[in-house]
Amino acid sequence: MGKLDGKVAIVTGAARGHSEAVARRFASEGAAVAISDVVPVEVLEEQVGSKIRDAGGRVICFQTDVSDEEQVNAMVEQTLAQFGTVDILANVVGIAGPTKDVWDMSLAEWKRTLDVNLDSLFLCCKAVLPVMIEKRYGKIINFSSGTGKQPLSHRTPYATSKMGVIGFTRTLAADVGQYNINVNAICPGSHQERSLELAQGRAEYHGEQFDEDAFRQRFREQQRNEKAVLAGRWLADEGFSDSGSGSEDAAALAVFLASDDSSSMTGQDINTGGGVMW
Ligand SMILES: NC(=O)c1ccc[n+]([C@@H]2O[C@H](COP(=O)([O-])OP(=O)(O)OC[C@H]3O[C@@H](n4cnc5c(N)ncnc54)[C@H](O)[C@@H]3O)[C@@H](O)[C@H]2O)c1
Repeated sequence: MGKLDGKVAIVTGAARGHSEAVARRFASEGAAVAISDVVPVEVLEEQVGSKIRDAGGRVICFQTDVSDEEQVNAMVEQTLAQFGTVDILANVVGIAGPTKDVWDMSLAEWKRTLDVNLDSLFLCCKAVLPVMIEKRYGKIINFSSGTGKQPLSHRTPYATSKMGVIGFTRTLAADVGQYNINVNAICPGSHQERSLELAQGRAEYHGEQFDEDAFRQRFREQQRNEKAVLAGRWLADEGFSDSGSGSEDAAALAVFLASDDSSSMTGQDINTGGGVMW
């Protein structure tokens, strides 16, 4: 028996990364999953949908730009038409946005990051909440970041959006608690491939050479140094080791937050940062 048997979940940004892992885990725990991404639906179907189906899961795929109200509403309406209800919403989608300082950034770049990272939460929650309120049941899981709790240099829109995710989560949790709806946030730690993109973007922005091999070699060490600074020297010294926090930890936490095991938890922002204590 799965932890999410009989439930229906919507998962955004599901073509890769954390969201793909969340979709796969939800389905393996028995949820019917409606997954969406901005990539063509055939790509999402091939990369994720077919694998969930082959493993015995129920899935429908949508091409949805989650910053577009009409597309979000269509995704939710079609999910309701095909699966009959919605119990769980995982707002996983997020883009890194520009690696630039504020004075070099266009208003369009600033807005696009907030559109995808914050408007999407508003739009997806707005579309599913009437159903959840009516049934007096719902689980909403929003992806923030360690950057929701500390700055990230040259990425003001991303950091602002991820801090906003926590504010949105806490406030919505307070507003919908009376309807038995839980709203929580997950704050993943750095992932090697996304950290590589960030480091490349920084080098480009500063007009510096970038050595990918050297970056990969240093990544593990940087992780340890980051822990040493943020978590206190003892964590590394005492032998805690991990290979950089991955999407599976966050996906496992998402299952817990989507299940009735966490029914007393709401308004929380929980780290899966591989030991980093934000
Ligand atoms: N990867 C990390 O290191 C890390 C760290 C902390 C927090 N996070 C957060 O976790 C979440 C997932 O991150 P990830 O790195 O796994 O993502 P990713 O970059 O691997 O995947 C994001 C997906 O979202 C899709 N997407 C982009 N714009 C979209 C739009 N407008 N509409 C619909 N889909 C869109 C992309 O096509 C892609 O498939 C994000 O919210 C991110 O901020 C990630």
